[in-house]
Amino acid sequence: MNASRSVPVLDLDPFSDDFLAEPFSRHALIREAGPVVWLERYGVWAVGRHSDVFAVLMDWESFISSAGVGITDFRVQTPPRPPSIILEADPPLQTRTHKILARVLSPAALRSMRVAFETEAEQLAARIVERGTIDGAEDIARAFPLQVFPDAVGLPDEGREILPAYGNMVFNFFGPHNERFEHAMANAPAVSKAVMALCERSAVTPDGLAAGVFAAHDAGECSYAEAGMLVRSLLSAGLDTTVNSIACALVCFARFPEQWNRVRADPSIARNAFDEAVRLESPVQTFFRTVAKPVTIGGIELEDGAKLLMFLASANRDPRKWSDPDTFDVTRKTGAHVGFGAGIHRCVGEMLSKLEGEILIGALARRVARFELTAEPTLNYNNTLRGYAQIPLTIHANGKPT
Ligand code: HEM
Repeated sequence: MNASRSVPVLDLDPFSDDFLAEPFSRHALIREAGPVVWLERYGVWAVGRHSDVFAVLMDWESFISSAGVGITDFRVQTPPRPPSIILEADPPLQTRTHKILARVLSPAALRSMRVAFETEAEQLAARIVERGTIDGAEDIARAFPLQVFPDAVGLPDEGREILPAYGNMVFNFFGPHNERFEHAMANAPAVSKAVMALCERSAVTPDGLAAGVFAAHDAGECSYAEAGMLVRSLLSAGLDTTVNSIACALVCFARFPEQWNRVRADPSIARNAFDEAVRLESPVQTFFRTVAKPVTIGGIELEDGAKLLMFLASANRDPRKWSDPDTFDVTRKTGAHVGFGAGIHRCVGEMLSKLEGEILIGALARRVARFELTAEPTLNYNNTLRGYAQIPLTIHANGKPT
């Protein structure tokens, strides 16, 4: 096996603080080493070039998700929570469940959320301009989705405060058993139980996204237990991803003020600006697959059962695919990025998160002339996600000297 090709072996730890603090130069090393590399520290394969990451995402028969999309192999280790019946599943189960959530999150359903999102975004924008000095991570990136998303799902006010701890648990779980993992998983049984209580039909409003999932159960498309699991998927995947994407976008706007000026001049590009931030920063940095049959990448044979790490963030800055990949350009054609995945598992909530991003950025563009960083933002270290714990900002209002 692999007798004729030498396998690039790298001694990198993609889950260490060092790596996570500055992942992008390490991604370049991975891309340059070859189409596929061996990360000896964890005994896993990894791909970082756009064409290879994309090919793996598209080939769900060779690279399966049902053995987990983290480093843990569900075939040999029992996961701490019942696996997702969409993200951590393969067809035919995933085909059925993806279809249900895609319908629940259809353009028609999203249209009905617009007014509530706009009202919240306007209030938030007015509030931060009034205050002048804020923590963008708390006062914008967390504040907005933490209000509008649970409302859209139809969660009661009571109990939703568990969601950040749950998101932290879910996304750290995909990594190795490092300190971050241990910390996030410390209260896993209690946190999971509290979240499952929110996924009962009796807990949710009759008109939100969760009610839509239970309607699919009424129509015979899934069991009651599966409906609860799909509501759980919305809660697992829908919040932290969007919070971090907004935080990343804010930091981009602060670091590239001329790009913010372009959004202010034409707020209709707010949605594309949000998508460009997702490309550049890749709030979801990585996901794993498990090799389900012998397969080759770049002439190197990957054995059945091996874990393969996809560096989505690396693909999104691969110079083979993008011109000026490290530049934030709010008018860039972003369509080919893999920040929302690709293929059958492509994010089912993409349009919802883009609606949130578009409306929030649009409201900010009408009021904020400039986001000024008053100190370096601090990263929120996570085994999967990239985002910020704190973004110290002075807000310069439109119409005032900047
Ligand atoms: C900017 C915010 C978001 C980002 C960057 C993001 C990213 C991703 C990525 C990369 C995947 C692919 C996973 C894979 O291939 O294994 C995915 C899948 C998924 N996302 Fe998102 N997501 C976001 C927002 C949301 C929202 C708001 C929801 C729910 C309302 C959501 C629900 C899901 C679900 C259920 C899946 C699994 C789909 C499947 O396996 O068929 N996501 N997301």
